[in-house]
Parts: sequence; structure tokens; C-alpha cells
Amino acid sequence: MSRFKTVRGMRDFLADEAQLLRYVEDRARKVATLYGYKEIITPIVESYELLSVKAGEEVRSRMFAFKDLGDRDVALRPEFTASVARLVAASFLDQPKPFRLFCVGSVYRYDEPQRGRYREFWQSNFELMGSNRPEADAEILLLTNSLMENAGLKDFTFKIGHVGVLRGIFNQERLDDRVQNQVMQLMDKKEYDDAFKVVQDTGAPENCLRVLRQLVELKGKADSNVVDLMRACVFDYENAIVATENLRQILELISKSGCKITLNVDAGFARGLEYYTGMIFEVYIPTLSIALGGGGRYDRLIELFGGESTPAVGVAHGIDRIMMAIQQQKIPLGTEDRKSGVVIPINEQSKAEALKIAEMLREAGLAVEIEIMGRKMAKALEDANRRKMNYAVIIGERELKEGTVAIRDLARREQKTVLIEKAVETINEMTAT
Ligand code: HAM
Repeated sequence: MSRFKTVRGMRDFLADEAQLLRYVEDRARKVATLYGYKEIITPIVESYELLSVKAGEEVRSRMFAFKDLGDRDVALRPEFTASVARLVAASFLDQPKPFRLFCVGSVYRYDEPQRGRYREFWQSNFELMGSNRPEADAEILLLTNSLMENAGLKDFTFKIGHVGVLRGIFNQERLDDRVQNQVMQLMDKKEYDDAFKVVQDTGAPENCLRVLRQLVELKGKADSNVVDLMRACVFDYENAIVATENLRQILELISKSGCKITLNVDAGFARGLEYYTGMIFEVYIPTLSIALGGGGRYDRLIELFGGESTPAVGVAHGIDRIMMAIQQQKIPLGTEDRKSGVVIPINEQSKAEALKIAEMLREAGLAVEIEIMGRKMAKALEDANRRKMNYAVIIGERELKEGTVAIRDLARREQKTVLIEKAVETINEMTAT
């Protein structure tokens, strides 16, 4: 048995899984192109301070943080947004807005490993920076919808809310930021009783607690009266009303656009990351209780990093979970079925010729391997059959002398001897049907 295995929470991707990961990545790139997002590549290792400042306790406490050999406090990125905001704050000064930026890659969180929860996972991340308008929020929702559709997924739904509602209430009740963040973290984990207890302990009035209890019960389809009910519920809180109206505008825009997205409003919805200031959302399918993606509006992060005041909204799609969803829903990948073959040298003398001919076939775009295990022809053919290859090219003594090769159609068990110059044409003809 091997002495080594992967570190807990880390995984190898075998060929089928690697192919599936690249398929989802490819869909994300397609969506990025269709919506005009330019790819940027940021480092996996960043300063701990940058990554932690607005990550929220949940993500902060799970970072792979360490000192590098230069005694710097660094960490593996737990997400992309902080890196993109850093880059924009430093390098995009005075550039015409908006910025549409896309990243894809691995991120790291010391989560408790379980199905769909890993310590190394992949995200495709989209950030739209420079606009505080509802059409920017709508674009992020639409492109996420488009990615899920492009990946072939069915029955996915969006949970949507607005952190401005809860923050509006907390600010008016003068809860300090630290307490607000603590309450939001608890609400994100649906530990509502604990959350309300923290609010109560600050001396907040009973009315505030009543409003919070009502809000967490308020859920409904976007086209129901749920936003009216939210508004009525928060009528004492000026900024919470503004937030509710902002959510209404975003929902109305999408509804009037005619795009079919299933949006479920959840008035007590909170997310762990602390930089959100506006609309927030997550995507789900019925058979998985964990989100396939999540995002929202964060208007103050870039200025916090020393950049110009730049409102922004974005999303990260959990590629590993989208892969799980594709497997569950048995979505065919529609990947190209390339014909494959093997070149078999019959003896010592034909080995060099086999290398040469294989190169010639590859130059013509044919996928071909070489028999390198020293097997006799019958065994080599047996192996090619077992691996469901389409053709074999056999180079023997006679062929070597006559400048020919024998080409065998493995499915039909037919064989032809042709001049080397005719090999590509013959293989193409044989494997065409
Ligand atoms: P997030 O909700 O922390 O948001 O992560 C986005 C997605 O990453 C989740 O919905 C989930 O699919 C996936 N994910 C999270 N943790 C794990 C894990 N341990 N294993 C597998 N998949 C996981 C963000 O990262 C924000 N940066 C999104 C954003 C971008 N907001 C604005 N711009």
C-alpha cells in the first residue's frame, strides 16, 4: 500500500472528474465572454490582513494562514473578491467604469470536510464594479442564471434578500459594528434564537425584536406580496425601507425583462461575508441543501482598500457543487468523441518508424498512442480493444520494406495495407462511420 494519501479535505481529480471540472469552467468562460467580463489572474497567496478584514468570522477562522519565510503574515485565498478589490483599488484609478472582471481557480477554507464541502474547492467569480444601480444587480443574477442553464442544470432557484434591511434596523438601534456582525453570522447559520439574544442583550427595544422575529418568518416568491409585507414590517426603520425599495426595484427589473428566473425572497437572509451592503443571493437545487453559488452587493470594500469610492456587485459559483449537481441530474456533457488509435511496431527495427508515423498522424489531428510495453501484436490488439480504441496501425517487416502500413478497424476487425502517405486518409475513412 502507498505510504501517502491526500491531506484531509484535499482531493485528487481522476480523468472523469477533471473533465467535468473543465467542462464547468468552460461554461463559466463562455458566460464571461457573452456578458463582456475580462479574465484576470490573482495570486493564491495574499496578505492575511487583506483577506481577513471583511471576510467575516466564519471564513476568517477557517483560513489557511501562516507566516512565509520572510516573516510575513499570509494566507491562501478563501475567495476572490478581496483580491479583485485590492487590484482595482491599486491599479484601476481614473479608468472608465464599469469594470467587468472574471476569475476562476482554487480557493481554500478549513471547513469540516463532508459531501460538497472541501478544503480546496473551485470557484468561477464575477465582479461588476462601478455602478450602484439595480440593473447591475440584475446583471449578476442573470449571468448566474445563464451559467446554471449553460451547464445544463434544471430546477435551480435563487434565494434573495438584502442586508440593508437588517443593517438599517441595527444602525438605527445603534448596535455597534462588532455586535451587528456577530448577529449576522448567527443569522447566516439560522441560529436565530442566539442572534436575537445578542440583540436583546444590547438593550434594544422589544419592538426591534418583534420586527426581527417577523422578518425571519417572511418568505415568498418574488411576484408575491412579500416585499410589501417586508416594507410594512420595517416601517419604523428609515434605511430598512430604502433597502426594501431597492430590492423591489431589482426584482421588478428582472420580472419586466421577461427572463424566467425563480427568485424566492427571504427577508431574514444573511450571508457570512461582512462586506455586503445590499442585495444578497444564493442558488440552490432541490436535491442539495448547500448553495451552488452566492453573491451580492458590496459598495464600500474598494474604498476601504484605499481605492476610489466604487460600488460593486458580484458572485462566486461553486464549481465542485455544480459538478455534483450535474452528476445528480445526469446531465450529458456533450463532449467531443475523438477517435483514438494505437501504433504497434512489430519488431525492434520498426520502432523508430512507429514513432515517426505516430507523429505524422498527430500532425494531421489524429489522437494516437504508441505500444510501449513491448507486447506482441495479438496482446497489443487485445489491449486496444479493451480500451475501446477505434483503430490500430501495424508496422511490420514487410511494411517497413514496402513503405506501407497495415491499418486495422478494431470494431469491424477489418484490415487494409496502404502506402504511408495514404494512412491519414484511410484512417479518416475507416473511422468516419
Ligand atoms: P461564498 O458564498 O462564500 O461567496 O462562496 C460561493 C460559493 O462557493 C458557495 O455558494 C459554494 O457553492 C462554494 N463553496 C463555499 N465553501 C465551499 C466548500 N468548503 N466546498 C465547496 N464549495 C464551497 C464568496 O466566496 C463571495 N466571494 C462571492 C462574491 C463575489 N460576492 C461578491 N462577489
